[in-house]
Amino acid sequence: MMRDADVGIATLSLGPLPPSALRERVAGTSDAKWFDESGARTVEEWRQALAVAGRRLSDFGTILDFGCGCGRALRHLEANLLPTQRLIGLDVDAQAIAWLAASYPRVTSLPLEAMPPTSLATGSVDLIVAHSVFTHLPEDIQFKWLGELSRVLRSDGVFVTSVHGAKVIREYRHALQSQGRHNEGGSFDATMYLKGFCHVRGRTQAEMTLPEYYGAAFHDIRYIVDHWQQAFELLAWLPTFALGHQDVVVLRRRAG
Ligand SMILES: C[S@@+](CC[C@H](N)C(=O)[O-])C[C@H]1O[C@@H](n2cnc3c(N)ncnc32)[C@H](O)[C@@H]1O
Repeated sequence: MMRDADVGIATLSLGPLPPSALRERVAGTSDAKWFDESGARTVEEWRQALAVAGRRLSDFGTILDFGCGCGRALRHLEANLLPTQRLIGLDVDAQAIAWLAASYPRVTSLPLEAMPPTSLATGSVDLIVAHSVFTHLPEDIQFKWLGELSRVLRSDGVFVTSVHGAKVIREYRHALQSQGRHNEGGSFDATMYLKGFCHVRGRTQAEMTLPEYYGAAFHDIRYIVDHWQQAFELLAWLPTFALGHQDVVVLRRRAG
């Protein structure tokens, strides 16, 4: 079987599916078919997003899946790695990481504290991917993790992440409206208008083991242009590209 990170998605060598409770914690559903298919789709989206920025998955020696959870996308990345590539998965969810470490020995799976730093060496990673992680962090914690990711990413390395952009913002706003939560809607609008970023705290039952700061974060692309570009240069913005829902941004770590 062809094992090329840039040639479609191979499924024959896929490792095991995580248990349903871990699947539900990252996906909001334990549906095994959705978990498997959406993971393959996320990797294909990363491949296409990199292509928009003129890069290929096979260009990168060490790939970090930041906030990998129980490996929804990481399983598919692993199945497509070249023998020379190294894959690291990091998450604050110690149970998910323990399961990955036992089930995917070829992947370096490491648990994180709720706050940086990681144990990774400075400049040791070539590509960072993160699906639906910065969609959950409050602003100050977001900046702490962005700082840490820029530390571990090599100069000129690439960072592909999803954010809750215009489509999710509209859906959230509509939900507040239809639930009659007009005051919250008004203050959400004002914050998004003035700042371009808003974080709303709240964990589902399945997410109660995650840090208490966990919630929903919303990013206007203007905010990313204005606030993320000290450490990273924005290479591409793909609205609603991640599973037809979240926006994808591709960034390059600035030198120095
Ligand atoms: C919606 S899930 C997405 C998981 C995985 N990326 C995927 O696409 O299936 C969000 C993940 O972010 C992780 N997470 C939350 N805060 C984090 C942090 N500060 N550092 C790393 N991971 C974090 C959670 O534990 C969870 O696994």
